[in-house]
Amino acid sequence: MALRLEGKSALVTGAGNGIGREIARRFAAEGAGVISVDLDAAGNARTAELIREAGGRCETLQGDVSAAADVQRVFHARRVDILVNNAAAWRGDGLLHQVSEEDWDYVLAGTLKSVYLCTRAALAGMMAQRGGVIVNISSVNGIAGVHLAAYTAAKGGVISLTRLLALQYGRYGIRVNAICPGTIMTESSRRHYDTRPEQEAELRALYPAGEFGTPADIAGCALYLASQEARFVNGATFVVDGGMTAGYRIASLLGPMETPPEEEA
Ligand SMILES: NC(=O)c1ccc[n+]([C@@H]2O[C@H](COP(=O)([O-])OP(=O)(O)OC[C@H]3O[C@@H](n4cnc5c(N)ncnc54)[C@H](O)[C@@H]3O)[C@@H](O)[C@H]2O)c1
Repeated sequence: MALRLEGKSALVTGAGNGIGREIARRFAAEGAGVISVDLDAAGNARTAELIREAGGRCETLQGDVSAAADVQRVFHARRVDILVNNAAAWRGDGLLHQVSEEDWDYVLAGTLKSVYLCTRAALAGMMAQRGGVIVNISSVNGIAGVHLAAYTAAKGGVISLTRLLALQYGRYGIRVNAICPGTIMTESSRRHYDTRPEQEAELRALYPAGEFGTPADIAGCALYLASQEARFVNGATFVVDGGMTAGYRIASLLGPMETPPEEEA
């Protein structure tokens, strides 16, 4: 069977860890030449090592995708057929009246400005080659009030921008879609929850199957969106959250969801 991304060049931001690394690995396994961009040089090197061990191609670039000069350097003279805007930043308080201006600027820069800078840089080449795919990694925070005010605003912005870009650049053969992951167990989220078992149990109870997602769940969706199979999918937001947001607010008001007893299964 033909590889789904054969001959394509795919740039993945934040590919030095977590979801981005898994997307990079999956794309490389489908024949793409991957450009892994990350602040974390060691993480980048590990991603490249994993891809090369599996027989794939990977170039690594260390850089901050919220800094215009770094983005310019990263995209300079590189063909990019597929851009995955995956890197993001989060920190500070959840309640808006407690969010410092410094934290707001930091989160908006890392999560939304980075998407603007990388997309702007990629679009020039994609318009000239009359084709390209952009996959923006948003979050369930972008579609539902969960927590983290600045991050929520930025992730909502990513979804709105995705829709507009689909309309503005569709006639150049460029597709732009977003993915909203629910809780995904990456190495860094594992470290976070290992010290907070009660928080993990409460969160897990919001998931209909009682399970969090894995980076592979998001990589599979990103691969579909990047491939020709999704040629008619543009401006869409794919929620990949195991059903968590399907009735999130109501479920939390009414208590545990009524489900069929095991013997009926
Ligand atoms: N893990 C989850 O539960 C979850 C849920 C919803 C959405 N997301 C989204 O998925 C994406 C990936 O998250 P993750 O959980 O894999 O995170 P992670 O912390 O495991 O990896 C993020 C990577 O991005 C890099 N990065 C961050 N800011 C950068 C910048 N300015 N320039 C270059 N590299 C930068 C980091 O160095 C790191 O390697 C993010 O957009 C995040 O908001 C994650």
